[in-house]
Amino acid sequence: MTKRLALVAANWKMNGTLKTIRPLVQEVIGGLKDDCHADIAICPPSIYLQELQTLLTGSRIGLGAQNASHLEAGAYTGEISVNMLKDYNCQYVIVGHSERREFYHETDDRVAEKFIRVSAAGMIPILCIGEQLSERESGETDTVIARQLDAVINMAGIDGFKDAVIAYEPVWAIGTGKTATPQQAQEVHAFIRLQLARHDDEVADKTRILYGGSVKPSNAADLFSMADIDGGLIGGASLVAADFLNICLAAG
Ligand code: PGA
Repeated sequence: MTKRLALVAANWKMNGTLKTIRPLVQEVIGGLKDDCHADIAICPPSIYLQELQTLLTGSRIGLGAQNASHLEAGAYTGEISVNMLKDYNCQYVIVGHSERREFYHETDDRVAEKFIRVSAAGMIPILCIGEQLSERESGETDTVIARQLDAVINMAGIDGFKDAVIAYEPVWAIGTGKTATPQQAQEVHAFIRLQLARHDDEVADKTRILYGGSVKPSNAADLFSMADIDGGLIGGASLVAADFLNICLAAG
């Protein structure tokens, strides 16, 4: 089995202003310990990508976006293309976050189109998948996860996952303070890896699968110690420098 390097990505969502993000980033850069070997990334609101690009210069923290258009360019008011994100040296783009699926009606197919667009532009998609509470309670978790994953595999091919990251984010755990137990998360992560392995063992072995949903300094180490959990996608706790730093440290 390949030893996968952990990735911890901050998803700031629609939070922060210039006034608050500057000290936050400076504190994170300043506090990042040499013995933290995980890959680290920050995904700010797109309007702050340029600011972050400047702030992160000379640090080892990567830059990511929270969303991108599935289209190349044109008359699509308010949208941001992958080429625009490339202009700011984005390395990662989150696609299919449950908030995009739920509030902006992104379908499995739309998410797959975005995934392909991001990869084709040479960036790493962080594909978010996860079940709702009602789906978990009715025993449909695996079905939902397989459906969300298959939509992308069918469109992008398994080779599309060679440079991709998956984030398992149970919707009921996002921003609720309710974290999946390490065992609950591990079970789904192993299932995701198995789904990839049905197509390609090597891709399954190498793909980083992050956990997201109320990761905090107090639960990060236990989650990250599970065999198939390769880091985290961090919302609320990434807005507090000390918390984010402790989570990064827990990732190895
Ligand atoms: P949370 O968000 O850490 O605030 O639960 C995670 C996410 O939505 O990526």
